[in-house]
Amino acid sequence: MNRGPYIFLGAFALLAFSWTAAILANQHGYGTLTPHYDAMEGKSFPAPQPGIVARGATVYTDLGCAACHTQQVHRADLGGDIARGWGERASVARDYIFEETVQLGHNRVGPDLRNVGARYENAADFYQWLYAPAQMAPDSNMPAYRFLFEETEIVGERSKDALDVQAPAGYQVVPTERARSLVAYLAHLNDTYAYPETNYVYPDDEGAEEEGH
Ligand code: HEC
Repeated sequence: MNRGPYIFLGAFALLAFSWTAAILANQHGYGTLTPHYDAMEGKSFPAPQPGIVARGATVYTDLGCAACHTQQVHRADLGGDIARGWGERASVARDYIFEETVQLGHNRVGPDLRNVGARYENAADFYQWLYAPAQMAPDSNMPAYRFLFEETEIVGERSKDALDVQAPAGYQVVPTERARSLVAYLAHLNDTYAYPETNYVYPDDEGAEEEGH
């Protein structure tokens, strides 16, 4: 007897089932997430990305920052992220809805950057991290991204974005357009808003044991 059609149908059913479970179910759960409107504040969260921030996200991807930095704060019961000051709460799916490419990252050679915008107030600090990481953290192995800056002749006054670093007399070191957008993107990384779903309390291990799980 030729079992070919049955094997084919069986394999097809298996693939269709996996696809439904892995893709469709998640698309149904997360793909339809919308911003949360806060009536008290009169605005929605997360905030849409302005153009310069979206351009900065592509610079972040191009330069491979995700090789060393993650962008996902883990729950307090799943690691020390919150204790380390990487965020006030765990990341949730809604945090990422405006992102063209979600940059969860590969390794944690450096700190998680999901809330780095809340850790630094001035663009100057971010420029310093990119221009000379060793000055911010002498032992860090973060590479310097000097090509994101250029030396320009000072005409009239120094640029307000000029870095506080050595430059030949009459010249200044200023961020290029790529550096400006990358820093606008870093400053925008700030998930401090508490959505209804971020208030969900996870049962701790003890509680789960008591319930017999
Ligand atoms: C080879 C790994 C590596 C790469 C690639 C890298 N970083 Fe870093 N970065 C680090 C390390 C390590 C630190 C932490 C240094 C310390 O505090 O000791 C750091 C720190 C930082 C900080 C400060 C974070 C904080 O919480 O204070 C920022 C901002 C940052 N990096 C941005 C970037 C950006 C943007 C890129 C891509 C252009 C990038 N990094 C690429 C390793 C890396």
